[in-house]
Amino acid sequence: MNEKLKQLESDFKLALVAVENSVELKELESEYLGKQWKLKAILAWVKDLSIDDKKTVWVAANALKNEFSELLSQKSQSLEDAYFKDIEEKEALDVSIGFASQKLWHKHPISHATELLEDIFISLGFKIEDGPQIEDERHNFDMLNIPDNHPARDVWDTFWISDTINKHKKSWEKYLLRTHTSPVQVRTMISQELPIKIIVPGRVFRYEQEDARHTSNFYQLEWLVVGEWVTFWDLKWTLDTVMKQLLWEKTELRFRPSIFPFTEPSAEVDVSCQICSGTGIRDAKKCSMCSGTGWVELLGAWMVHPTVFEGCGIDPMKYSGFAFGMWIDRIAAQRFWVSSSRMFYQNKLKLNEQF
Ligand code: PHE
Repeated sequence: MNEKLKQLESDFKLALVAVENSVELKELESEYLGKQWKLKAILAWVKDLSIDDKKTVWVAANALKNEFSELLSQKSQSLEDAYFKDIEEKEALDVSIGFASQKLWHKHPISHATELLEDIFISLGFKIEDGPQIEDERHNFDMLNIPDNHPARDVWDTFWISDTINKHKKSWEKYLLRTHTSPVQVRTMISQELPIKIIVPGRVFRYEQEDARHTSNFYQLEWLVVGEWVTFWDLKWTLDTVMKQLLWEKTELRFRPSIFPFTEPSAEVDVSCQICSGTGIRDAKKCSMCSGTGWVELLGAWMVHPTVFEGCGIDPMKYSGFAFGMWIDRIAAQRFWVSSSRMFYQNKLKLNEQF
């Protein structure tokens, strides 16, 4: 009997080695372990044996059955491994071959300037805030002390969201593309505890005639400081510190009185143009960056208007603050000597590849 089992085992092993794929494996499995399995045929005459012999044969046969199952599953695993290895080899992609060694991307000069500014402000303890680019009229104008029909609204030529959306809204709820980052001042003063020390870098939109310094989409950086005893001196110190770190030592600053409904008093600050070194002339022509004036307007600023504070629930008798709105595009143009900030939006590889 044992002889028969031994023979069966060696037949099985030989057949197993010859198996080349999963179909053949299935066939072998049913041949040896299926309904008509060979082992069963051998065991058919076991009934004639003595009880003791029956036991030994059954035990040996069962062991053999387990062994077959085990070997079959090992074979199945190795067929599968071979199958995937084959796919891996056939479909392998060597991404390192011919990989261009040069830098494939460039940081946009505006992102570069924004990051420089953020680093300086973070080192001075400012937090970075963000706000929606689709703003409502209340935050963009009303709460900044620019009520409906106020002539100052004309200064911010506005892109309004389509009439289909706006026509059912009350005037202060109408949507627009924010014309400046100042609405985030309001949002922050309403929602945060005092003191506040934030900057807001972000994209703004104006319906502008495009020229070397004006584009209908550009970037601003708002700064806002609110607390007790915040004075003009703090403003001047912050501005000096930031400008010295950002631009060259020789840079000169010029304060001009101005009007912004949300600051009182108000000023615009210019820097001496880096492109023409403040002379107004470049390559024997009028410098396009500063229109030949030698100065570039960089920001609007000054002390936060008491009416804005009141609208945000801050007591103007107790608290004071200053705010700035800075043109990042112009900073980038000055910092990186680009003669027209419009070029930042023209996908000029010659320019972008320098960064
Ligand atoms: N928001 C103003 C503008 O876009 C700039 C500004 C900001 C002025 C903060 C004063 C204070 O023109």
